[in-house]
Amino acid sequence: MKHHVKDLALSGMGKKRIEWAEQDMPVLRRIKENFTKRKPLKGLNVAACLHVTTETANLAITLKAGGANVTLCASNPLSTQDDVAASLVKNYKIPVYAIKGEDNKTYYKHLNATLDTNPQMTMDDGADLVSAIISERPKLAESMVGSTEETTTGVIRLKSLAAANLLTFPVIAVNDAMTKHFFDNRYGTGQSTLDGILRATNRLVAGSTFVVVGYGWCGKGLAMRARGMGANVIVTEVDPLAALEAVMDGFRVMPMAEACKVGDFFCTVTGNLNVIRVEHFKKMRDGAIVSNSGHFNVELQLDELAKVAKSKKEAREYTEEYTMPSGRRVYVLGEGRLINLASAEGHPASVMDMSFANQALGAEFLLKNSKKLENKVYTVPEKIDREIARLKLAALGMKIDTLTKEQTKYLASWDMGT
Ligand code: ADE
Repeated sequence: MKHHVKDLALSGMGKKRIEWAEQDMPVLRRIKENFTKRKPLKGLNVAACLHVTTETANLAITLKAGGANVTLCASNPLSTQDDVAASLVKNYKIPVYAIKGEDNKTYYKHLNATLDTNPQMTMDDGADLVSAIISERPKLAESMVGSTEETTTGVIRLKSLAAANLLTFPVIAVNDAMTKHFFDNRYGTGQSTLDGILRATNRLVAGSTFVVVGYGWCGKGLAMRARGMGANVIVTEVDPLAALEAVMDGFRVMPMAEACKVGDFFCTVTGNLNVIRVEHFKKMRDGAIVSNSGHFNVELQLDELAKVAKSKKEAREYTEEYTMPSGRRVYVLGEGRLINLASAEGHPASVMDMSFANQALGAEFLLKNSKKLENKVYTVPEKIDREIARLKLAALGMKIDTLTKEQTKYLASWDMGT
């Protein structure tokens, strides 16, 4: 079996950690049991480009239990957990091409290795597989049933492809499922981003000024958790609605030109490029800590920062010190790559449980409906989305009420007024 991982000798620890994550993924576990019996993905070649973590391992194992031939590569050069990659190859016989810290050339070599398996389905976190198929290997599209997409940035790229009439197969936007972005983007990013910043710096959050850049689902989660740890949270935004929401959630809102002068911590979660620019870095306080938790490493203008800085050195693992012309020091974490996966382990298993349940059931839906679907971006059907919520609640031991017949009838009526 072909593969490219750091060291197969790491597989023992990887297996233990994969099993630890599985304990907190009850919905995916149920899907795996069901897939094992029914084999709904029998013989399907699936190329997956996802963060190679313990949670992703459980998804890959589930897809394999459903009969798929899965090949996995990393969706970010810094997010791979090498012990997990080793275990997937050695213990679960799933080919993996991923090494933490791989350079850009190796990243694309690995991505192309998964495409060499002639996938009928791809699973992306950031749309790199789809983008490679469409721009470089269009012949592969002929045998494609479709693709699934995990993240906001990927969905935006795919919607741009669809709008330009360039999408050559259907896509399921897993990110847009309610049981994905309400939980993974908010509670997952909120917790794992702070986890990443703290593992990299071990700085105290209480009493600090924490600037959250962008108030989408990820920004909301991060602001909420930073406040929970005692930070004074500032939000910067470009969208008036999101900014208003931040104000009414009790945060201070101001432009980056002002926030840059007062923040102790900065974290970007916008999905856009050059959000913290050199003009902002120049005004930061001595010791400011800057990171990104958005999908791509484009949110911080690091090339320009390197040009103006007097010097640059490693201060700690994942922490680079830039000395500015003023003599003030600015610390950039994880090379500006998503800090929750670069210096920590990404979102906890309990939220990835729902995200990956959507991936597994989305894959089955795509295969079943391949003849009917057009070359468009679809959301996960609401029935599947709500079933995942129901299963998660049940796994958490929570019960809810049901509508009475009278209530159902009332909600469907118009004639009863004051
Ligand atoms: N994205 C964010 N956290 C993740 C995790 N733990 N596994 C896979 N993808 C992720």
